[in-house]
Amino acid sequence: MRDPTSFLRQEYEELVRQELDWKLRILGGPSTPWCIVDGKKVLMFCSNNYLGLSNHPKLKAAAIEAVQTHGAGSGSVRPIAGTMDLHMELERRLARFKMAEASLVYQTGFAANAGLIPQLAGKGDVIISDELNHGSIIDGVRLSSAERRVYKHADADDLANVLAESEKASPQFRRILIITDGVFSMDGDMAPLDKIAALAAEHGAMVYVDDAHGEGVLGMGGRGIVSHFGLHREKVQVEMGTFSKAFGVVGGHVSGSRDLVNFAYNKSRTWTLSGSHPPAVVAACIAAIDVLESEPQHVERLWENTRYFKKAMVDLGFDIGRSTTPITPVMVGDSGKAKRLSSRLFETGVLALPIVYPMVAQGKARIRTIMHAALTKEDLDLAIGAFETAGKELGIIPKPS
Ligand SMILES: Cc1ncc(COP(=O)(O)O)c(C=O)c1O
Repeated sequence: MRDPTSFLRQEYEELVRQELDWKLRILGGPSTPWCIVDGKKVLMFCSNNYLGLSNHPKLKAAAIEAVQTHGAGSGSVRPIAGTMDLHMELERRLARFKMAEASLVYQTGFAANAGLIPQLAGKGDVIISDELNHGSIIDGVRLSSAERRVYKHADADDLANVLAESEKASPQFRRILIITDGVFSMDGDMAPLDKIAALAAEHGAMVYVDDAHGEGVLGMGGRGIVSHFGLHREKVQVEMGTFSKAFGVVGGHVSGSRDLVNFAYNKSRTWTLSGSHPPAVVAACIAAIDVLESEPQHVERLWENTRYFKKAMVDLGFDIGRSTTPITPVMVGDSGKAKRLSSRLFETGVLALPIVYPMVAQGKARIRTIMHAALTKEDLDLAIGAFETAGKELGIIPKPS
């Protein structure tokens, strides 16, 4: 007889045997530079809460007030009875912040990618995607019936080749959609968006950038990668992002033309068929934009800390890959060793988690550190010291002879 569920345990146990399973760490309070994790006070070195906004007094006050004025939930999906004045205000404020004609807010960034990508390209079209794009882009592409082509990571020359090859298809592709992460979440490097946009313009292709790790980090006042490269909106037609990282709350979004937004909210199934954000979330997102517009010091501190940490780690002999942003991977290679390094760091008071296969390729395990604007120099020195001690113990950096 067939056993309908035995695979559940077998597959889980196999992950455990290969040291590829997730062990959840539990925060006993807010995500702050020093926080309580599994009952222990540690330095937070791996949160996406780059600017500390998740615990900012203005965001918390806005969330509490919205519960009083608008209740705990929205009651519906956006197109039926779940669009409140707050949702509309958030979209207006976001469009202004992104310097776009219009913006649309989704429940999550994953929902934006999974709901919008398959609508932008379908049968008779081609999607051309960076080989290291985020899983939510990959799943969005899989949901499309367009042809898929992949170019080498952040390699504009290879993209040019793939575009030239795609032009030879017969019958001709109706649309060409190029998709890239802005900042690559596992490596902390940036897409050459200026070159991508120029190539797209030559071929009449549309550019879709996922700026989840660029907003609040790159560009003028944290406006993101389009601002960082000073690109014109018409050259990057779809700027997707999330409120779950530097904005400190939760929710996905897209910005671009009014046509894009009108199209997206009528076509994205993740948007039309899923409940809208509760008022507290929406109000906190609006407050996050307020903070970014009025308190530039957070982005400045983030970059000061990033430069300090990266230099110290390179001086110690760590391999930080090709990172140029506040995401700094510390390369280890073997997944078991990466897990042991993370455990040693935790014992000495630093939370920095290992990233292993399948999130990165086999043999490319790493500790992914993410900088926080509110860490002090003393905090950074403590973390650097913990990396040095554990790195020497585990033979990741050389011990003095
Ligand atoms: C590049 C990228 N895109 C999209 C997402 C999904 O965003 P969200 O957390 O809002 O679903 C993430 C989050 O891990 C990400 O890193």
